Amino acid sequence: MRKTKKVSDSTVTMVQQVLPNDTNPLGNLLGGTLMHWMDICAGLAAARHANEAVVTAAVDHIDFKHPVRMGEMVTLTAKLTKVGRTSMNISVEAVAENLKTGNTIIANRADFVFVAMDSEYQPIEVPLLDIDE
Ligand SMILES: CC(C)(COP(=O)(O)OP(=O)(O)OC[C@H]1O[C@@H](n2cnc3c(N)ncnc32)[C@H](O)[C@@H]1OP(=O)(O)O)[C@@H](O)C(=O)NCCC(=O)NCCS
Repeated sequence: MRKTKKVSDSTVTMVQQVLPNDTNPLGNLLGGTLMHWMDICAGLAAARHANEAVVTAAVDHIDFKHPVRMGEMVTLTAKLTKVGRTSMNISVEAVAENLKTGNTIIANRADFVFVAMDSEYQPIEVPLLDIDE
């Protein structure tokens, strides 16, 4: 029988600080760097749910809502929202915090699809998801 896991079993929070190498000439976080961090965070949540290796299959939607400035702290949170047989939908939110003022703002949201893979690089079944928390 297929095991069931809760959303909280696999939720991942990851923190980064925007350093000079992460920025464009305006001093804002590069979009590609933020997408890389989001992909890592989503992939960790997927792997935690599946207990298998995972690959990014798709990024369904990504919104750059607010620029993130150099020096700010970015907290990324990845949560599973749905699973198929071998695929997992993961929503990632990135919150930027100005460390001088303490002000926070949602800078970015994205929806990823990951697929669990076995050792022969074939999609493998993942546990069901209990979203009633
Ligand atoms: C993702 C991948 C494993 C899917 O392989 P596939 O031969 O299409 O496998 P399947 O048809 O069995 O699909 C497996 C699952 O992935 C889902 N899937 C495949 N492509 C998808 C896409 N573009 N968007 C959403 N889901 C997708 C299928 O719906 C299926 O889900 P389910 O089992 O929950 O029903 C394959 O395309 C791949 O290896 N892609 C490269 C992954 C990679 O290297 N990522 C890094 C990014 S550079």
